[in-house]
Amino acid sequence: MTLQAPSFVRHQKLIDWVAEVAALTKPAAIHWVDGSEAENQQLLAKMVAAGTLTALNPEKRPNSYAAFSDPSDVARVEDRTFVCSARREDAGPNNNWMDPAEMRGTLQGLFDGCMAGRTLYVIPFSMGPLGSPIAHVGIELTDSPYVVASMRIMTRMGRNVYEVLGEDGPFVPCVHSVGAPLAAGEADKPWPCNPDTKYIVHYPETREIWSYGSGYGGNALLGKKCFALRIASTMGRDQGWLAEHMLILGVENPQGDKRYVAAAFPSACGKTNFAMLIPPKTYDGWKVTTVGDDIAWIKPSADGQLYAINPENGYFGVAPGTSVKSNPNAMAMLNEGVIFTNVALTDDGDVWWEGMSKDIPAHLTDWQGKDWTPEIAKETGRKAAHPNARFTVPAAKCPSLDPAWNDPAGVPISAFIFGGRRSSTVPLVFEAASWEDGVYMAATMGSETTAAAFGAQGVTRRDPFAMLPFCGYHMGDYFQHWLGMADKVSKLPRIFCVNWFRTDADGKFIWPGFGDNMRVLEWIVGRVQGTAQAEDSPLGKVPAYAHLNWAGLDGFTEQHFQQLMVLDEAAWRHELAAHDEWFAKLADALPASLAARRSKLAAALGV
Ligand code: OXD
Ligand code: MN
Repeated sequence: MTLQAPSFVRHQKLIDWVAEVAALTKPAAIHWVDGSEAENQQLLAKMVAAGTLTALNPEKRPNSYAAFSDPSDVARVEDRTFVCSARREDAGPNNNWMDPAEMRGTLQGLFDGCMAGRTLYVIPFSMGPLGSPIAHVGIELTDSPYVVASMRIMTRMGRNVYEVLGEDGPFVPCVHSVGAPLAAGEADKPWPCNPDTKYIVHYPETREIWSYGSGYGGNALLGKKCFALRIASTMGRDQGWLAEHMLILGVENPQGDKRYVAAAFPSACGKTNFAMLIPPKTYDGWKVTTVGDDIAWIKPSADGQLYAINPENGYFGVAPGTSVKSNPNAMAMLNEGVIFTNVALTDDGDVWWEGMSKDIPAHLTDWQGKDWTPEIAKETGRKAAHPNARFTVPAAKCPSLDPAWNDPAGVPISAFIFGGRRSSTVPLVFEAASWEDGVYMAATMGSETTAAAFGAQGVTRRDPFAMLPFCGYHMGDYFQHWLGMADKVSKLPRIFCVNWFRTDADGKFIWPGFGDNMRVLEWIVGRVQGTAQAEDSPLGKVPAYAHLNWAGLDGFTEQHFQQLMVLDEAAWRHELAAHDEWFAKLADALPASLAARRSKLAAALGV
């Protein structure tokens, strides 16, 4: 094995670190990734030969592949995710904590020889446009070629990152291993991983990430949740900016007035669909454009506003439920050049997943390689695609991509939107009366679990700012950081809360959702522009029926609207008790002003 770095790497500290990790993990070879198309094709061919990837029918979906993971490795593993800050209280009750020295000891043992028989790939990547003052560089060392190919889509990856880095530029070191060393002559598996031992570890003080045992999504593509949220949130706390689990979209009205909003929703609330919304036909002249669908890095600028970039370069979206009805833009960008993971295969070499089409194929090969028919599904309940099956596709392929999505300066944010899945209690939309009120609402937001994802259905989990699994430090300190932005920014965005998921007495959704969310978005942007009317409510400002645009929405009556907006006293008494319970967990770092806001809200609601 040669340690020789290529001439385009001039950063001695980085070269020394790679040598150190290689000495520990003992790979058979080191590959300094340059990000070129030729290299990518080579890796893809290698993975097809190894059975990791299946090439899809080029006549159906050119340049596209399907990967199938080990059944033990299908999602982020929150219970195996750790934040190892020097002090336990800095990680907070929202994170699994372990003493950093103890964790380093454990990982030293696990990583010793863990890449035997494999290639160690050195991936240089930038989160955000190269050289942007909001962007940051990371280097991921991995023994998974699937991770290399995925990082090439999900980040700005390749040798020009070394130009940004120069001889001594800062980078976040990320080490990843599937945790499956190969003995001499041992045959590899199509999806190597460690079914028994997984660790996703963050050291916030030294800004390092170490991940062991999984090859899937956020566990393995370390630029995403690990760097862009957990580590970046601590960088943001220390440096005065925000790393958020938010989509960013642009809304332009027919007069050409364009505003950007950032919106946080927990998983399974239609975030990617909202980011790529197509307005109803009656919205002639309106445009909605996509900057990002999952993560926003937001920094105060000299003009007194907050500017946001999408640090990612692609979409790692949930496939099931994605269809021409729910997200026509996503379906259009999935036509070619996609890596799918854990979807089902059709007999003619294409992909399928639950909710993709009304017509269900008569026969499929499911994500575990088994025969699947609608009859088998009826008998066994077995899904063709895993519920967390994904597509990985470059952002540039999105038909609604915003022209400024790659702007190093970012886009100015006019409003923050927070939403969860709530069958009752939370109205369709309201505007917080102040920054502090908005922070309170985001800090207490909850979302009901869905059967597919979390087991028991309909249980409301608090997921403040949709950041519960992603905030790299104490959630109470994070609330304080948000409150403190009021002192750093003179033109604060307005804060809104939405709920697309209220149900009627039969459990049916009242709000049509999807493209019709534009009606709410129009009101939100109108509030920012000073053109939309509102009335007072105990929660803040709300639209009356006449304040929203209903053109073209047949069958939706004023009564339906009232059902979506009503504040039920008993439900809110219950809700505030849940806020108390949640805040009690964060008591050691809860900002006093949020506790005070709770009393104000109770008085306003009369509960
Ligand atoms: C994601 C998530 O994968 O939020 O984006 O779980
Ligand atoms: Mn997400």
